[in-house]
This record gives sequence, structure tokens and C-alpha cells, in this order.
Amino acid sequence: MCGIFAYLNYLTPRSRQEVLELLINGLKRLEYRGYDSTGLAIDNPESNNDDGSKIMIVRRPGKVKVLEEAVTEICKGDEYKTKLTTHIGIAHTRWATHGSPSEINSHPHRSDLDNSFVVVHNGIITNYKDVKRLLEKKGYVFESDTDTEAIAKLIHHLWQQHPTYTFRELVEQAILQLEGAFAIACKSKYFPGECVASRRGTPLLVGIKSKTRLSTDHIPILYPSAKKQRAYNKKLPADIPVLQPAPFNDDTPAEDELLEVKEVEYFFASDASAIIEHTDRVIYLEDDDVAAVKDGVLSIHRLKKSLDDSHAREITTLKMEIQQIMKGNYDSFMLKEIFEQPESVVDTMRGRMFFESKTAVLGGIKEYIPEIKRCRRLILIACGTSYHSAVATRQLLEELTELPVVVELASDFMDRHTPIFRDDVCFFISQSGETADTLIALRYCKQRGALIVGVTNTVGSSICRESHCGVHINAGPEIGVASTKAYTSQFISLVMFALVMSEDRLSLQTRRLEIIEGLENLAAQIRKVLQLNSKVQELAKDLYLHKSLLIMGRGFNFATCLEGALKVKELTYMHSEGILAGELKHGPIALVDDEMPVLMIVMRDPVYTKCMNALQQVTARKSRPILLCEEGDEETKSFSSRYLEIPRTVDCLQGILTVIPLQLLSYHIAVLRGCDVDCPRNLAKSVTVE
Ligand code: AGP
Ligand code: GLU
Repeated sequence: MCGIFAYLNYLTPRSRQEVLELLINGLKRLEYRGYDSTGLAIDNPESNNDDGSKIMIVRRPGKVKVLEEAVTEICKGDEYKTKLTTHIGIAHTRWATHGSPSEINSHPHRSDLDNSFVVVHNGIITNYKDVKRLLEKKGYVFESDTDTEAIAKLIHHLWQQHPTYTFRELVEQAILQLEGAFAIACKSKYFPGECVASRRGTPLLVGIKSKTRLSTDHIPILYPSAKKQRAYNKKLPADIPVLQPAPFNDDTPAEDELLEVKEVEYFFASDASAIIEHTDRVIYLEDDDVAAVKDGVLSIHRLKKSLDDSHAREITTLKMEIQQIMKGNYDSFMLKEIFEQPESVVDTMRGRMFFESKTAVLGGIKEYIPEIKRCRRLILIACGTSYHSAVATRQLLEELTELPVVVELASDFMDRHTPIFRDDVCFFISQSGETADTLIALRYCKQRGALIVGVTNTVGSSICRESHCGVHINAGPEIGVASTKAYTSQFISLVMFALVMSEDRLSLQTRRLEIIEGLENLAAQIRKVLQLNSKVQELAKDLYLHKSLLIMGRGFNFATCLEGALKVKELTYMHSEGILAGELKHGPIALVDDEMPVLMIVMRDPVYTKCMNALQQVTARKSRPILLCEEGDEETKSFSSRYLEIPRTVDCLQGILTVIPLQLLSYHIAVLRGCDVDCPRNLAKSVTVE
């Protein structure tokens, strides 16, 4: 879910070479978002029109640098130096969600061999299979594995059906058929000099650079007429009647006022970092806005008029430095990623959790479910944080699959030469999909005939490629070395797997329903937990000069203790240990005194009473623990003046909410200790050595 950059110059002469430089530069500014391949499209110069198409596409897997080299090689003739008064180029950095990172899967995607419509897309189209099927029936031949290609072909199909539609109308019609999250920018040989962009659930903004200073009033919001809106409500394959373009709203400026616009350049980008060096004037698009530039005029169209629609999109003046914007106003990528969790958990569930019908579907392993149900045992193998996501969900997996569930650290698993059988199902959980220990364990199990299921955040990674089937966690790129949002997304992916496995178990229905409800409310609850940030920062001030921090808990929250302690260790270089509260009396209690910092998780779940026992043992040794307890739990709070109240969710999901304050705590301690949060010493994001 990476980056879009598109550029349009109107009556502002620019050569193709300049446009290409602008596009490449825009992509470089988006590189920090993480990506695996790149591509762009510009108009083909007549003299280089070998393939007969009017639009030229260049795509490459790998870094922007690779694309830059390819472009420099291809576009060196004089025809690239000729100035053009109007031109449009679209470019993309891709973070694969559907199909491995390869040239053919890179964007822009095209409608046909003639490149009639080309599209760049960020996000996921969840109903792309249906759209694809429909288009295949109409004779379209798909060349990539992506969901995006369906958009380009759908626009083409609509154009064939309705040749009088404007470009903007075609895109509007197309996005009405799409489900999921997207930001798109489109270019067409039939509509030279025009660009249409839209978004739903994925960011997109328009930057404006003009000599005449455009005001917000110059950007009208247009709505379709009632008749057209009715037509829009029809779904494919119904024929959509040809209608006149929507009239201007009564209170929008007169047309001649709009036509004053001359010599203007527009930039469409996923975030402001890509355009800040060109202009500080931007409009942030909202969901279902369709922004169209035609004859140099930008207008924003809504698919439907709703009561809370304001009449104009404000032109905002950016006051930030590039570096600041890249981190989206956060001091570090880690903090940004922690705060992204309300959105990343939704992305993980998108197209998989159907809250109305209370069902879960995991497309990537659907066909293997009968085989998995027949297996001898489930083995979850991973390292570090990814291993903790397995610990966190083990109990629920046991409960909902009724299978033996074994959780293994990849390195130890290999040291033991663990016996593996053909009827074992082995899950390999890895954010990067490249961790050497996990990958070696995968190959070992594959050789022994087990079914291999990959759970990764990186499509096309080695673990992805070498698995029989899998779940892409869709958390979006994680740049900070310390894993945060990938953990919560791995957690949710495994919970969804448990739900899928138990779908037909009547006795488990009540439990399943409460979990589904819990998942539905999760994003809002995460937002609430994030509001504890300043309180967590205060606690960090109490802790950062200490040498050690013990984190205790049990049951569903034990994994949070392990994960919290790992975060503290790797970010702050302080000693920290996640302790199972049930083990306290078997040793660790010896560490507890009035000096040793202790953090304890005590939630009102089935092990509450046992946790309270541990709390009493700790306070009896004069410890003043920091408590993570349930909102409004006066009894638990009475044990300490330092506590964080966490919203209640279903017990098996509680670990998602309790881990976030610990991510924040480790972050704040690290900052206070002057550590580099995004790149802790001695660590690498992806550990590709044993
Ligand atoms: C997480 O904060 C760590 N950097 C580390 O433990 C990590 O989770 C581990 O190396 C596994 O990585 P993976 O998920 O990419 O396989
Ligand atoms: N789903 C699209 C793909 O896999 C877009 C991914 C992205 O946002 O970069 O190509």
C-alpha cells in the first residue's frame, strides 16, 4: 500500500525528460513508505512509437534507482527534450498485496495491449475476483496477478459500453463497482491531458502550483443529478444509461471564473512529502472524491450527495519540512507505526471479516481448510515478535480448532531436529518473510511433507513463495526495526484463522460471535488506548534511569509480557523480562523488592484471581508495580497509584490492547535514554543470517 505520484502540466511547457525527472523524484520522496517495485507511464513520443501505443509504460521490480536507470536508458532521444505544453505522467511504488513483486505485477496496469487506459493503485480491491471473472467472460485477458489490473480493464469495458462518457464519468462508474480500499490515478490515450484520481480508505492529495493563486472557491464540488445517481446505484453488468454531466451546484462560481485558470501544474500524491518541493498548496481528498483535471481545471466530484458534504475542499497550505511529513508528524517511524494500528488492523481484516453476516474468509488458505482440519497438530514457528504473536493466539487456536497446537522458536526447533510428519500443518509467521531461521525451519518441514502455511507482511518474500498457502497480514510496510503494527496484524490473522476453522462447530458459535464482535470494535478501542500516550510518557520518566523492568502477567496476556519486554530490551538497552505470573514463586519473586520496577497486567479474564494473587505477593515485598488493568476496575487500581486503564474486549483479543501501552512505554523510555528508536544498535529489520 505504497505510493502514488502523478503530474500534470497545463500550458506550462515541459519536456518528457523533465516530466520523467519529476516522476522519479516524486517516487524517491515516497521511498520511505517501503515498497518492492516501481513503474510509470507517460505519453509515447511519435518517433519512438514502436509498439503503436500512445502511452509508454516502464516498470521494474526493486528500487526507484533501477527504474531511473531504465528510464534514462530508454528515454534519451531528442524527442524527449521537446517541450510539450500539456502532459500527464503517472508513477507508482508498489508494496505487493496480490501477486509477487515482478515487472508484470508492477504498476501502472493497462486495460489492453494498446495501453488505452493505465492505472496506478494503492490498496486492495476485495471484490477484484468477481470483477475479473466478469471481464474475462467479456473477453479480457489478464496479464498480471494483481487486483489493480481489474480496474484498468473495467474502465475500458465501461468506455466501450458508453463511448460518450467523459473520462471522469468512466472512473466514477468503475469505482462504484469496487469494494475495498484504494487510491488511484488514471491516464488514457483517449483523453490526452486529462487525469482522474480517486480514493476510498487510502490517502491521496492534490498539489496545485499556479501563477494565478487559486482559492478554495475555484475548486467546485459537483454531484451527479438524481437521475444519474439512480443509474449509479445499479451494479454491473447492468447497462448504465448515457447521461449528461452533472450540473454545477447553485452556489459554485460561474464557469468563466473557473476558466481564468492558466499555466497550472497539478500533482497527485499519496502524501505531501512527494510534492512539498513543488508547492505548499494542497487539497486532501476525502473518501469517494473523484478529482478530475480537464483543460487545466480541477474539479472534485462526489458519487452521491450526503448531508454532511461540504461544498468545497479546502486548499491547505503546508507548513512542514519534508522530513517531518514523511514521518507524518511523528518523530520516528516506530511512533507512526504504533499510531497506525487503528487503520492497520482494519486493513488486515478487510475482505476477510464480514461483520454483517458474522463470517470470516481467508482467501489464501480457503482451499486447504479441509486438509488442515484433518491434521495431526498445528505447529507455529517464528522468531522474536512474530513468535510472540503465536504465543498470544495459541490458547484460542487450541480452543477453536480442538487440535494440539505447538509453538516453536525457529532456531530452537532446528537445534532439536524436531520430528515432523506428513499430517502436520506448519505455520511460519514472519513480518519480513525473509528471516533465515524461520525459512530454514520452513524448508525442513516442507521436506518432511508437512503442509506449509506462510503468515507474512511481505508478498513475494521467500517465506511467501515457498509456502503452499498463506495469509498476507496487510499491515502495510513497517520501517521501524522494532515490530509493532505487524504484531497486532499477525495476532488478528491467527484469530481469523481460528474463526475460519470453527465455522461449522455449533457448540462454538457463541464464542465465535463474541470474538467477531470484539474484532469489529477493535479499531475504536485501539484509538482509546493510544490516548493513554501522555500518561505512558509520564510513567517512562519514572523508569528510564532504572536498570531493569519486570513485566508480569498470565493467560491471554502472557504474550504481551514477552513482547513488551522484548520491545524494552531492543529499544532502550535496559534489561527487561517477561515473567509468567504463575512462575513467580518458582524463582523470579527473588528479584522483587522496593527498588525493582515491576509492571503487571491484571485483566478481568478467567485468570484474574490468580493474577491478583501474584499482585499481592509482589506488593507484600514492598514493590509499587505499575498496573495495566481494566477500565473502572477499582479493586485492582487500589493496589497502586500508578496504573493504565485499558478498555475491555473479549479475553482472547485483550492482548492486542495491552501490548500497545508497552510499545509506547518502550518508545518513551528509549527517547529519554537518547536511543535511536528506528534503528536500535546491533539490530536489523530483517535477519537473513542464522
Ligand atoms: C521485533 O521487534 C524484532 N526486531 C524481531 O524480534 C523480529 O520480530 C524477528 O527478527 C522476526 O522477524 P520477522 O517477523 O521478519 O520474521
Ligand atoms: N493491491 C495492489 C497490488 O498488489 C496495490 C498494492 C500497493 O498498494 O502498492 O499490486
